[in-house]
Amino acid sequence: MKITVVGAGNVGATVAQMLANRELANEIWLVDIAEGIAKGKALDMYESMPIYASSSRIYGTSDYAPTAGSDIVVITAGLARRPGMTRDDLLIKNATIVSECAENAFKYSPDAIFIVVSNPLDVMTYVTLKKTDLPKNKVIGMAGILDTARYRSFIAMELNVSVKDISALVLGGHGDTMVPLPRYTTVAGIPVTELISEERMNSIVERAAKGGIEIVNYLQTGSAYYAPGTAAVEMVEAIVKDQNRILPCTVLLDGEYGFNDVCIGVPVILGKDGVKEVVELKLNEEEMTLFKNSAEHVKTTIIQAMELIGAFTRYHDNAEHDID
Ligand code: LAC
Repeated sequence: MKITVVGAGNVGATVAQMLANRELANEIWLVDIAEGIAKGKALDMYESMPIYASSSRIYGTSDYAPTAGSDIVVITAGLARRPGMTRDDLLIKNATIVSECAENAFKYSPDAIFIVVSNPLDVMTYVTLKKTDLPKNKVIGMAGILDTARYRSFIAMELNVSVKDISALVLGGHGDTMVPLPRYTTVAGIPVTELISEERMNSIVERAAKGGIEIVNYLQTGSAYYAPGTAAVEMVEAIVKDQNRILPCTVLLDGEYGFNDVCIGVPVILGKDGVKEVVELKLNEEEMTLFKNSAEHVKTTIIQAMELIGAFTRYHDNAEHDID
């Protein structure tokens, strides 16, 4: 297993270190335009491998050639938010950065599965799909696992129980329009709606939706990386070990949930070939309305991104909820 992590910032470095600690690849390549940062962090990580008793080799580079033949590419490159910014404010800079990184990585690893972490996440997943021309099952965005993990953490805090016992799903875009689903949330099998009042659940849902900016406001100089990095590694693990995990991930919808030509968070089955299947939940009217709002927001931003990088959106016109 050979894995390339593009971007040696906080998220990329966290991903590379965790992949190595868990020995999920024998070769890990950390790529960054700042060559010294990539090489320095990679060497520092490799020097911790004797302590972790892991045989993973970690290399740093600014060149994509040595990444050739990677099985998985994780794209974390791009700017992070500062206080007062939305994820969409990163669009102009990150659309160009992610577009270039995806194209370069794909040139050397045309059979890889791409996991996208850069923001605005759903749009950057679409950009990667467009720039690589990979099939939709092999370009997957990481957001739902992070959003769900935050939501699960807040429920655990509320009930003072272990996070391990909280099972939950979050749908939609990675932003203020995300759709946590209390109806599909359980605590050791008990519906959360029996344990937490609607009013308290509303504030937990609100905190999860704003979970990213809460961290940005504390850090001031950047955004979260421990939880985002861990979430990306969970996706890599599901692929490497062909686990068939059901995880919320951002994928291109092709008629599922009645949408086309938009990358957005939905539950999928994840295994060695990437997305095996999109799991379609029966949403009630209120959930569907929230999901549709989220998809419309993402779609508008996708169109802006495509104009910025001089590409065009894929177009399908036969969907029930077509939002073109
Ligand atoms: C967050 C960023 C990484 O949600 O999108 O923390």
